[in-house]
Amino acid sequence: TVYKIAAIPGDGIGVDITEAAEQVLDTLAATNGTFKFEYTTFDWSSKAYKERGWYMQDDWEAQLKKHDAIYFGAVGWPDVPDHISLWSMILPIRNTMNQYVNVRPTRILKGTTAPLAQLQKTPSELDWVIVRENSEGEYAGQGGTTHAHGPNAIATEVAIFTRVGIERIMRFAFETAKSRPRRKLTMVTKSNAQRHGMVLWDKVFYDVAKEYEGVVEFDKMLVDAMTVRMVNKPESLDTIVATNLHADILSDLAAALAGSIGIAPSSNLDPTRSCPSMFEPIHGSAPDIAGKGIANPIGAFWSAAEMVRWVGKGELDAVADQFMQAIENVTGNPKTRTRDMGGSAGTTEVTEAVCREIERV
Ligand code: NAI
Ligand code: MG
Repeated sequence: TVYKIAAIPGDGIGVDITEAAEQVLDTLAATNGTFKFEYTTFDWSSKAYKERGWYMQDDWEAQLKKHDAIYFGAVGWPDVPDHISLWSMILPIRNTMNQYVNVRPTRILKGTTAPLAQLQKTPSELDWVIVRENSEGEYAGQGGTTHAHGPNAIATEVAIFTRVGIERIMRFAFETAKSRPRRKLTMVTKSNAQRHGMVLWDKVFYDVAKEYEGVVEFDKMLVDAMTVRMVNKPESLDTIVATNLHADILSDLAAALAGSIGIAPSSNLDPTRSCPSMFEPIHGSAPDIAGKGIANPIGAFWSAAEMVRWVGKGELDAVADQFMQAIENVTGNPKTRTRDMGGSAGTTEVTEAVCREIERV
């Protein structure tokens, strides 16, 4: 089987880690022998935008749809305002490709010096999947500005919540919880202060929960209290569902608790499979370390492993597990950890170490 991958390296370390991910995926395919990946690389980035005035071609949608999956590095660079880069590429792709779920698994990989250790928690006490609503809510892009440049400037940022949008994310979250050993779902909201959209979230959550009574254990948290629970009682959580904004923030906290933002993966999924899904590490372009060869590629590899699982539709689960095992063998070795994980290895060394492990395991 040949899987067609649309690769969008983007900016900064996005370029380094995409290249590293392709190298590792090719090694995985060559070792296995029953499948391979074919990449189309798109030079869509903030850097290119500065030079030519556009991010993506007008027919970008048709181009992406020719692929089985999209692999994304990172977009954003200091000389282009971030809201322009986000709204020129990543958000239109998520919205147009029906990627209404963003899945962000978090656990402590072998060898990670996680801050959690200081809280006297063991690695097995942090094992979560954050399910982020990826199509509406606070990132619906609705609103406006008047008197933009004057002292009386007013801006609105309108969050949009629909029953259809909430129901489908709740259903996905309950199914995810059901598929995991602990069968536990925590829904995050802020329905005490936000009395319309968040109240609808609560209502739809309890409606869907009726279908899972006795199957999935569930509870509800306010987002502010949730940050405290994530730090103090990580073992009390398993699957977490939250809005676009809340889950964005909580997943960065989760990444920090698990050791580094350089480790954390994400999958932007169209569960209906009518469009290609997109896989990317959760970190950005990291201008502060770009070009230095020290970016941690582990988040990119974990995202690639999730991509293998997704395109394989159940047939490549063992291959993805083997890939994850190779990753953990490498993070478990102090000599092959990057600086953000307390080591001194560069991107290339870690990449080569993972390739060697894949060939070995
Ligand atoms: P960032 O994730 O790029 O960097 C935050 C900090 O984490 C930096 O100190 C960086 O060096 C470190 N870091 C990130 N990834 C790392 C890795 N793989 N290995 C080692 N260290 C790593 O977030 P920041 O600085 O807020 O944003 C930089 C740019 O990236 C902005 O233009 C922003 O809009 C964009 N961005 C893009 C995202 C995307 O494409 N999905 C997501 C987040 C930010
Ligand atoms: Mg984020």
